[in-house]
Amino acid sequence: MLKPFLLLSATILFAMTALPALGGTPQASAPGPAAGGNPVKPTADSQAKAKSLYQIDCAMCHGDNGNGKTDLATSMGLTLEDWSDAKTLAGKSDKDLFDVIRKGKDKMPPEVEGRAKDDMVWNLIIYIRAFGK
Ligand code: HEC
Repeated sequence: MLKPFLLLSATILFAMTALPALGGTPQASAPGPAAGGNPVKPTADSQAKAKSLYQIDCAMCHGDNGNGKTDLATSMGLTLEDWSDAKTLAGKSDKDLFDVIRKGKDKMPPEVEGRAKDDMVWNLIIYIRAFGK
C-alpha cells in the first residue's frame, strides 16, 4: 500500500518542479500589467481618468479600441500595431512602453509631464494592455 503512494507523490513532486522550467524564467513569461514592474495599482477612478486621457491624446492615432486602424494613422502613412491582440504587447515590458509614451518615438509624440504625471502614464499602460483582454 505504501509503495504506490510514494510513487505517486514522487510523480507529483516531479511535475511541480518540472513545470515552471517549461515556461522558462517566470519573469520572462509573466504576461500582463505586472511585467516590467508597473508601480501603480489600478483603481476604478484612476482607470477612468486614464481612459479619458487616452481618448483625448492617443485614440486619434491608436483608435478607441487600440487596434491602430484610424483615419489619422492612414493619412500619416503609419502602420500601427494592433493592441486588441494580446500578443502584440506581450513581449514589451511596462518600462519599454513607459519610455515610448514619455519620450515619443519617430512620429509618436511624447506625452509630456505637464499632460500626464508618471502615475498617469503607468495607468495608461494598464489601460492599453487591457485592449488585448
Ligand atoms: C500622432 C499619432 C500618435 C499619437 C497621438 C500617439 N501615438 Fe503612440 N505610437 C505612434 C506611432 C507611430 C508608434 C510607433 C513608433 C515606432 O515604433 O516607430 C507608436 C507607438 C506607441 C507605443 C509602443 C508600442 C507600439 O505599439 O509600438 C505605445 C505604448 C504608444 N504608442 C502609446 C501611446 C499613448 C499612450 C498615446 C497617448 C498618450 C499615444 N501613443 C499617442 C503614434 C501615435
